[in-house]
Amino acid sequence: MFKNTLKAIVCAMSFTVVGLAQAAEPVVIKFAHVVADNTPKGQGALLFKKLAEERLPGRVKVDVYPNSSLFGDGKEMDALMLGDVHMLAPSLSKFEHYAKPLQIFDLPFLFDDMAAVDRFQQSEAGQELLKAMLHKNILGLAYWHNGMRQLSANKPLREPRDARGLKFRVQASAVLDEQFKALRAIPRKMSFAEVYQGLQTGVVNGTENTWSNYESQKVNEVQKYITESNHGLIDYMVITNAQFWNDLPEDIRSELKEVLAEVSVEVNRHADELNAQSRARILEAGTTEILTLTPEERAEWREAMQPVWQKFSKEIGADLIEKAKASNL
Ligand code: LMR
Repeated sequence: MFKNTLKAIVCAMSFTVVGLAQAAEPVVIKFAHVVADNTPKGQGALLFKKLAEERLPGRVKVDVYPNSSLFGDGKEMDALMLGDVHMLAPSLSKFEHYAKPLQIFDLPFLFDDMAAVDRFQQSEAGQELLKAMLHKNILGLAYWHNGMRQLSANKPLREPRDARGLKFRVQASAVLDEQFKALRAIPRKMSFAEVYQGLQTGVVNGTENTWSNYESQKVNEVQKYITESNHGLIDYMVITNAQFWNDLPEDIRSELKEVLAEVSVEVNRHADELNAQSRARILEAGTTEILTLTPEERAEWREAMQPVWQKFSKEIGADLIEKAKASNL
């Protein structure tokens, strides 16, 4: 009699434990970024949410906050370190205060095309850079592409002297600051969310960004000319709070790693296409004249911006720069 009662109690307790486990709240991952959904990074964040919740039903919930709706430039990194947000994918231009070598991605005309960017990011040196901020409890999980930066203003920018005296919005990056000073222009650091209004009110006269960022933020409506310079890069590092990530249950962490690897392939495969579509929509809108450069004209911009390399070679590391240059075939 006693044995049956004991068995019944143990059985009931095991159901309770299982029941509690299954009823346990899902891990909530807050993923914040500063761009619109219809951009490479915006699509990547939504695909990550979709696949993570499909593969880990009831165990993981991903809340995506686009367009600086949770944290914007200047606040997102502190929020990540404090654990108020769990994943970000900031532009590689926004890490200079956390790891100087990451400034390499801002060197003008460093990469010939996105294929070269990809080769460098996937190389041993590029993968090593994912760990460059670990001393700040920031772990790089992946690189996501956007594309090459174009130049814009309300006057045609055909040769470097055309930029003289103009105020250009730049990301919070010393390299980009120096890039415009080399043109004898006036750089103005400004968060991404303020670019449209800054240009509309004349606080700044011009800026640089990718086609998808221009179009998704309607920046083309306040810029009469975009010069197709492809002079620099806007790419992203998907980052997380290392403590948060390492504290995840091992099976959840390994599944999320697989999801992220799949999402990264998709983001990087479609980034060029999304930027091409944005360029076409800008042309169609008729708001902005797109100026293309002859090889000789482009060489003049490259030469004018070249002094930036010398200024940052020591901070970034000459050998790292050589490795990045070698990614150009
Ligand atoms: C910018 O600030 O212009 C970009 O970093 C925005 C983005 O994340 O693409």
